[in-house]
Amino acid sequence: MGSALRADPAITPGSELFARQYYARISKDIGFDATPGTTTLDSLLGFAGYPISGAKLEALDSTILINPTRAASQDDGLGLALRGLSGATLRDGDILATRFFAPKIVNIDTATPIPGWRKLVRLRARPTSRAAQAGIESVVILFNFFAHVGEQPFTQQSANTQVMMLAPSRKDRLYWLDFDTAGKLTFALNASFDAADLPGGGTRNYYVPDGCNACHGSPGNFAPPMVNYLDTDHWFDRLDSDFVALKAAGTPLIFDANTNDSSQASFGAAFDVIRRFNEEALLQNATVRPRSFEAEAARTWLRIHAQSDDHLPLIARGFTVNGGSTWQPSEADGLARLNRYCFRCHGSVRFSIFDRATVVEKAGNIRQRINPGRQQVKVPGFKMPPDRVLEQSELQALDAFIKALK
Ligand code: HEC
Ligand code: HEC
Repeated sequence: MGSALRADPAITPGSELFARQYYARISKDIGFDATPGTTTLDSLLGFAGYPISGAKLEALDSTILINPTRAASQDDGLGLALRGLSGATLRDGDILATRFFAPKIVNIDTATPIPGWRKLVRLRARPTSRAAQAGIESVVILFNFFAHVGEQPFTQQSANTQVMMLAPSRKDRLYWLDFDTAGKLTFALNASFDAADLPGGGTRNYYVPDGCNACHGSPGNFAPPMVNYLDTDHWFDRLDSDFVALKAAGTPLIFDANTNDSSQASFGAAFDVIRRFNEEALLQNATVRPRSFEAEAARTWLRIHAQSDDHLPLIARGFTVNGGSTWQPSEADGLARLNRYCFRCHGSVRFSIFDRATVVEKAGNIRQRINPGRQQVKVPGFKMPPDRVLEQSELQALDAFIKALK
């Protein structure tokens, strides 16, 4: 556990009051009643034109969901009528679904971290649905799971279900909702981003919209938030550091691939679903802030994975937003430390560690953040990383690496 001096988290937590006001505002904006404790995930699905239960969506295999015929079927699917579903037949791409390893939701402030897993379902709003009439194009639902190494993931209920509704033509660009295990609307996500500063379980609440905006391109709500692309490479990286036990267990990280062998056909098919989702993420980022590091990161993933489903090396993943320097092979070890300890947030918070020129620019700042002075350490959320306490040797290696950067 970290120092007891600090009470405030690094990630903006927001508050219940702001969350309540936010839900009241968006209820009016889009004509969807968002009342915490009352509104259900089922009602959101109905709003988007899918008269189905959230539990069913959570339970069904991705391979069924992404197949229009099977998804619509009464037998093993969602039981949607194939025709006349709020305006049109269910078509290929109307539903995207993928299940994957999610190191970013893991409480890492512990000797034996419990792997996190996510199931993402993207539903295109049905043409005549109330959501579509309010300018919502799609709904992204993110189910969260935890399973000890060796146990089958996705067998328990989603611990928390995060939702975004994409409305590119509206001022907000996207709207946030969050649901609890029972599928009821809630104010906040409970997570471990500031674990190093928290006693006990190491989690706290991050409220809509501020807590969400902090990691989705809008710290302090200065601009509309953005979709985060899915970084397959990072999931595989972490098998060699914090999750060696998971590597040994061999659980498929892109779960629907049934394998970690990228040469298998089943891997290619599952990987392509992520490619399709990331294309949409980039499209959204590019309408909101095309020159942002977030957009450039998504663009980079899509470029290097245009032909390849493989786990690509760190150096190949570097980019620049201002035409500055990019990471070199001799810098791979240092970049690996930034990737392991900082990318959880600095892939989507304020800057990306893959943007070398920005890391160089912030070098002095980074060194202070990882080795704060006596006064700085008292500033809430100053010390980095906030989610774990680094080994002294690792801290020194990271500091030496940053110090030598030019
Ligand atoms: C600490 C950073 C962080 C916070 C806080 C956060 N997110 Fe995210 N979110 C991410 C990342 C990173 C992804 C991409 C998936 C992954 O890497 O596991 C993501 C993905 C998502 C997705 C899937 C679509 C996409 O952007 O990829 C949804 C929906 C989502 N988050 C909703 C929320 C909601 C709702 C909140 C607030 C209650 C929230 N998020 C708070 C970092 C964050
Ligand atoms: C769990 C999330 C998280 C992790 C992990 C994390 N940070 Fe941060 N970091 C934040 C947040 C949130 C802020 C913005 C809040 C603030 O300025 O205090 C921030 C701010 C910073 C800043 C100031 C950025 C600026 O533009 O002024 C630096 C530098 C920084 N972090 C470096 C690091 C380094 C280096 C690591 C890894 C050793 C790291 N962080 C790991 C969440 C994180």
